[in-house]
Amino acid sequence: MFNNWEELEESIKNCSKCKLNSGRTNIVFGVGNKNADVMFIGEGPGADEDKEGIPFVGKAGQLMDKAFIGLKINRQNVYIANIVKCRPPQNRVPEKDEALACLDYLRNQVLLVNPKVIVLLGSTALKNILGEEHSITKERGIIINKKGIIYLPTWHPAALLRDENKKIEFWRDLKELKRVAEDLKLSI
Ligand code: URA
Ligand code: SF4
Repeated sequence: MFNNWEELEESIKNCSKCKLNSGRTNIVFGVGNKNADVMFIGEGPGADEDKEGIPFVGKAGQLMDKAFIGLKINRQNVYIANIVKCRPPQNRVPEKDEALACLDYLRNQVLLVNPKVIVLLGSTALKNILGEEHSITKERGIIINKKGIIYLPTWHPAALLRDENKKIEFWRDLKELKRVAEDLKLSI
């Protein structure tokens, strides 16, 4: 574990712990407020993220940004990262060994940010953070308290592109996030 951001990022730039390293243009480390109360965790970089080195800048990210604007969530106030830091080929789901290899970095980011609330975007984030027994369809929108952190699973923004109903549920879940943040006087 690293106790500063620079060393952590540097170690990821040089990382070859899993086979995703061979396909990356840039690592996608994470972005936002390093002292955020609320952290968002996605799956892994797509083509646009790989090109820019920033999470959620492609179509799915733009949809998430729209929801943020609509609900007055400031992207600069939160911290956003992914399960894997390198782009999986053809945007496939990260394989178990890849997610496991990369998870230490995310844990390190969580330790450094020390968020009160973590929003888990989609099944990959939910299962890798809280365990394979969890189900996004059954648990989205439901708060899970674990070891002093409040987890809120919701749909991955890419799923909203295909399903209008999920868009409504995603907005509902972010409203729940706002409610929790207001209750706890968190900055979001
Ligand atoms: N999807 C993700 O899970 N993360 C990104 O950064 C972009 C798309
Ligand atoms: Fe390393 Fe993570 Fe990239 Fe794999 S995905 S090479 S573990 S930084």
